[in-house]
Amino acid sequence: MNRRYFLGTIAMALSSGAAGAAAPDGKQPRAMVQRKIPASTNGESVPVIGMGTWNTFDVGGGATERAPLKKVLEVFYAAGARLIDSSPMYGNAEGVTGDLVQQLGKQSSTFFATKVWTSGRDKGLAQIDRSMRAMKTPRLDLLQIHNLLDWRTHAATLRQLKSDGKIRYAGVTHYTVGAHSEIESVLRAERFDFAQFNYSIGTRAAEQRLLPYCQEHGIGVLINRPFEEGALFTRVRDRKLPGYAKEIGCASWAQVFLKYIVSHPAVTCVIPATSRAEHMQDNLQAGFGPMPDAALRERMAKDFESSR
Ligand SMILES: NC(=O)c1ccc[n+]([C@@H]2O[C@H](COP(=O)([O-])OP(=O)(O)OC[C@H]3O[C@@H](n4cnc5c(N)ncnc54)[C@H](OP(=O)(O)O)[C@@H]3O)[C@@H](O)[C@H]2O)c1
Repeated sequence: MNRRYFLGTIAMALSSGAAGAAAPDGKQPRAMVQRKIPASTNGESVPVIGMGTWNTFDVGGGATERAPLKKVLEVFYAAGARLIDSSPMYGNAEGVTGDLVQQLGKQSSTFFATKVWTSGRDKGLAQIDRSMRAMKTPRLDLLQIHNLLDWRTHAATLRQLKSDGKIRYAGVTHYTVGAHSEIESVLRAERFDFAQFNYSIGTRAAEQRLLPYCQEHGIGVLINRPFEEGALFTRVRDRKLPGYAKEIGCASWAQVFLKYIVSHPAVTCVIPATSRAEHMQDNLQAGFGPMPDAALRERMAKDFESSR
């Protein structure tokens, strides 16, 4: 993406408000693709591109270190995105998110997802309370059990918090292929609204069982590590974009990687993390325009496989 295109699209995106972002041709504002939350009783949906905060939002209180993150969020909201994922495991990330969302006046439109990451009922409740205060929200949209830690205990807490109206949806997370079968077992044992796990064009294991399972059982899916923490970019460092990229409106590898993920019918939202506004703008474009069909997805995966 060249500088002119980036600045142009940011300006258009910022001026178009929450309803949509600039088209890559710079002409029409359009709406980002939305996905229904399967557990919603009123047809609630979320935009397919969300944002993670691990590492990227773990900064101190200084205005200089927070300014680039505020820009990231301005671009994010201007494109109509709204789901942000954090965790008490991510240092200051919940607090930085809460502060910046408040400064931008976006509390009511943000879909706040965070996690509980401790053992024991009382420690869990205390941590959830701290997360709500850090994120400056009286109610969390989604509370997930981080890495399935003490999940039986927290499942009971989450049920209670849901019935008290403190959280809207409950979920579980993990980030490795080795944990996929455990996630599936947990989903079979207990009803959760969402599951968050790793899936990318380079690591497609979730296609075997977890994604179909979630689709069949009406479980919303958040995808973490879509770029494998940036490692996918290294794999394609010396490669030009493949010819098919143009067909699906992708101007970068990031968009190819994200469109591959969000075009899977079980995926509700993908949560790439970035500390740079231009990368956020790049990533958001994957929520617009044509999506690859099953045949093209197969081609995309094979083509990527050949980059080893
Ligand atoms: N167990 C769990 O629950 C769990 C585990 C892992 C992750 N997660 C969640 O999932 C989120 C995403 O995963 P992740 O943070 O591990 O990794 P990721 O999103 O796969 O990759 C993030 C890396 O990609 C780079 N990047 C982002 N956009 C880019 C672009 N357009 N072009 C080039 N580089 C780009 C970022 O660098 P720049 O800052 O320079 O853009 C960063 O180094 C996390 O933040 C977290 O919220 C949850």
